[in-house]
Amino acid sequence: MSVPIGHPVTKAVIPVAGLGTRFLPATKALPKEMLPVVDTPAIQYVVHEAVEAGLQDVLLVTGRNKNALENHFDRATELEQMLEAKGDTEKLSRVRFSTDLADIHYTRQGDPKGLGHAVLRAKRHVGRVPFAVLLGDDIIDERDILLARMLEVQRERNTTVVALLEVPYSQIHLYGAAAVEGTDEEDVVRITGLVEKPDAAEAPSNYAIIGRYVLRPEIFDILEHTRPGKGGEIQLTDALQELAVGPEENGKVYGVIFRGRRYDTGDRLDYLKSIVRIAVDREDLGPEFRTWLREFAAELPERLVAADALPVPSTGSIPSPVSK
Ligand code: UTP
Repeated sequence: MSVPIGHPVTKAVIPVAGLGTRFLPATKALPKEMLPVVDTPAIQYVVHEAVEAGLQDVLLVTGRNKNALENHFDRATELEQMLEAKGDTEKLSRVRFSTDLADIHYTRQGDPKGLGHAVLRAKRHVGRVPFAVLLGDDIIDERDILLARMLEVQRERNTTVVALLEVPYSQIHLYGAAAVEGTDEEDVVRITGLVEKPDAAEAPSNYAIIGRYVLRPEIFDILEHTRPGKGGEIQLTDALQELAVGPEENGKVYGVIFRGRRYDTGDRLDYLKSIVRIAVDREDLGPEFRTWLREFAAELPERLVAADALPVPSTGSIPSPVSK
C-alpha cells in the first residue's frame, strides 16, 4: 500500500519500555525516562519537543513500571487542591503543565524485545501514514532545531528520515552507524547502508543514528519479519537497512545531520553532564549554580591529588555499582 504523498506528520511514538539496566538500581521500580533532569523527568522534555514540532498526538509504548509515567501525565487532584488552597499558582502551573501538554495514548510492549519491536507495537495507532519516533531518554536541547527540520525533509522528499550525529570513531560501537552520500542540501545525506553497533574498524562512517526518526508506514511491514539482531533484540536499524537497500517504491532513507546539543540520559555519565549543562543555563538556578560550579571546578585538581594520596580503606567501603 502506498503512502499518501505529502501527508502531514501528526503522530509521535515514544518507546519507553526498555529495562534501563545501565541505571540500576534507580530503574528497578522506575522507568529511566522518569529520571529527573534538574526538576523535570526526561520524558517531559521529549514530549514537549514533539508538541513544539506540531505533533500533538503522542503514543507512549510502555513496559513494566508504566504507572509512574501515566501518573506524570495525569491529573494530580489532591496535590492540585492543596496548592490551590495555598494560592501557590507557580507550583500549580508546574504540576498542570504535563497534564495539558499533549494528547497522550499508551500501548504495552509486553516483553522488551528491542526498539524495532517497540515501534511495531505502534502499528495500529499510527495507521498507513508517516510518523515520528522519539526515544524517551534522548533529549535535544530546546534551543537547537532537529525534529522540525526532519519533518521538513520528510515532506519535501516523501521519504524516511533519521537523525545523524558525528561522533568519535572510538564511540561508534555504541550506536547504529550510517554509510552516507552527499545531497544538494548541506545538512542532508542519503543513507546507503546501516550497521548496528559496529566495531570502529567495520563502521561505514562515524555518523551515528540518534534517537529521532521520521518513518513511513512501510517500516511496519519490514519489522513484521525482522529477526533478532545485535544483542538478540529486534533492531530498528536492521529494518532501516532493509529499507535503505530495498525497492525504490518503499522510499529511500535520508539523514539530517545534527550539530546541536543532545543529552543521552540513559547513560550515567551523559546524564550527569546533561543536568549540569541544563542547570547552568536555567534562569532560576543558573546564577548560583554557576558560581558554585566555578569554585568547585577550581578546587578539583587539589581534591583529587589529596584523595589519591589517601590510603585505600580496607573495610567498610561502599561497593561501587557494577557498570554495563
Ligand atoms: P536502550 O537500548 O537505550 O534502552 O533503548 P535499554 O535497553 O532500556 O537500556 P539499557 O542498556 O538496559 O540501560 C533506547 C530506547 O528504546 C526503548 C528504551 O526505553 C529507550 O527509550 N526500548 C528499548 C523499548 O521501548 N523497548 C525495548 O525493547 C528496548
